[in-house]
Amino acid sequence: MKTLLEIITIEMEKAFEDAGYDASLAKVTLSNRPDLCEYQCNGAMAGAKTYKKAPIMIAEDVVSRLEGNSCFASAEAVKPGFINLKLAPEFVSGYLNDMAADEKLGVEEETRPKTIIIDYGGPNVAKPLHVGHLRSAIIGESVKRIMRFKGNKVLGDIHLGDWGYQMGLIITELKKRQPELPYFDEAFTGEYPAEAPFTISELEEIYPTASAYAKEHEDYREEALHATYLLQNGYRGYRALWHHIMNVSVTDLKKNYEKLDVHFDLWKGESDAQEYIPDMVKRLKDEGYARYDEGALVVDVQEESDNKEVPPCMILKSDGAALYDTTDLATLVEREKDYHPDEVIYVVDKRQELHFIQVFRCAKKTGIIPNETELKFLGFGTMNGKDGKPFKTREGGVMRLENLIREIDEEMYRKIMDNRTVEEEEAKRTAETVGLAAIKYGDLSNQASKDYIFDVDRFTSFEGNTGPYILYTIVRIKSILNKYVEAGGTLGGLEIRPAEDLYEKALMLQAVKFNDVINAVYEETAPHKICAYIYELANEFNKFYHETKILSEEDEQRKAGYIALLGLVKSVLETCIDLLGFDAPERM
Ligand code: ARG
Repeated sequence: MKTLLEIITIEMEKAFEDAGYDASLAKVTLSNRPDLCEYQCNGAMAGAKTYKKAPIMIAEDVVSRLEGNSCFASAEAVKPGFINLKLAPEFVSGYLNDMAADEKLGVEEETRPKTIIIDYGGPNVAKPLHVGHLRSAIIGESVKRIMRFKGNKVLGDIHLGDWGYQMGLIITELKKRQPELPYFDEAFTGEYPAEAPFTISELEEIYPTASAYAKEHEDYREEALHATYLLQNGYRGYRALWHHIMNVSVTDLKKNYEKLDVHFDLWKGESDAQEYIPDMVKRLKDEGYARYDEGALVVDVQEESDNKEVPPCMILKSDGAALYDTTDLATLVEREKDYHPDEVIYVVDKRQELHFIQVFRCAKKTGIIPNETELKFLGFGTMNGKDGKPFKTREGGVMRLENLIREIDEEMYRKIMDNRTVEEEEAKRTAETVGLAAIKYGDLSNQASKDYIFDVDRFTSFEGNTGPYILYTIVRIKSILNKYVEAGGTLGGLEIRPAEDLYEKALMLQAVKFNDVINAVYEETAPHKICAYIYELANEFNKFYHETKILSEEDEQRKAGYIALLGLVKSVLETCIDLLGFDAPERM
């Protein structure tokens, strides 16, 4: 289905051409003076010079061609040369009925679907998830759903940090605590135990302990580095331990992401890319892309147009060890081989931007990735506390994700119990649903690249631009629809009727934008625009609700029209929150 803007732009193009002007002038936008009109076209102003005419004359010419056009209730030429447009109620209700009949509410899928890999989440194995990983998970999940909604083939890859120094630290600490384990016996040739020698909570304690100890003790640090080296070079016992660490950790990660309603198609990690490194390095050397700089192997990626220095991409350290750059390049080798993606999107903290500039340039320059493949960095800002500093616990430590979620859920539970509409058991489950919406909406309603303040009180409020407010609105609509059915009505086959008053029209005008909004969200990879849209839609609905007798409307046809409109508004809201990554409860 064409978007509303597309349809009226076509009408305007016809009018410009009929009046003897170029169709390219007929650009229509939402009005920035909603008090005067709904849509506007400033093409007459732009055309004045070309046609050597006063803009108002061009505008009047065009407007005269719109007489009797069924899309518009009015088209006005206004000095100095604006064209102000108001939509015909019949046209709007007709469009809404078409939306309601379409599975995707009128949104068209890509005619040529792309294969898109989204690299998000990026947790580090054996380290607890913290709020830093929350943003990547929330934004990445939403971007994934948006790309998919437009018909693309999308793969979400968690890209685990599973190959670094933290593994060496854990191994070293385990050796110190349980030296008798067979993993540390070089002479051992038998089968290693199937059971891990630690639980998840032990593992989570081991890493910070080891990390802190290594900072104070040089020899311990050396040992951990050596253990990392042995692991990476295939020492059997450490490989076996690594598998245990992975199993225990990934099981726990899955549970945590499940709770966030975040799902990955690929659970690959940095370790999976390692086997591609030797060939890649050889090729970069053979083909003359790489050079040695003070013993390290590097690829230059500075470009002439740069106005600041972009350091070379580091391929190997002077001791031959691979680095973060190396792993990300080798991961691209793997992705190209397995999926040949049209696009790879990285949802990572914006402080890593330079790293990705280097990696992208190197991948393109050396042909790891074809030139036409789009590599996109979607960098996000920091989540701060109310003090404007990176979010911490009350004690000043790093906030763990599960604690943060618990805090929100408890606050939500208190608020829901205050309302006293549901039983305790249901309130618990509802609190989790609404709590998740509070967190995700609180994050996604900000432009991703900006820092934002995580404010539990504001995010959990039922009023204002919040997740709970949106859910509350959906629940309100559900309850009206249920009552309609309980009173003997059926929801299928109802028609939305042309608006008869201001509030109804305002609600319809907001609903009708859905298709255009989704296209903008998709093209700009901008989930925050969904939030801005549904906040307005919810506001318009609530105004309409307060001003209109819906269920007590005596004219049955009119009542049925209201119900049809509510049904569509509900679908739009539900589709939008699904794209944001959460859903609504039945009651709250
Ligand atoms: N594990 C990394 C971190 O915690 C994020 C990984 C981002 N993705 C990537 N392909 N480098 O900072």
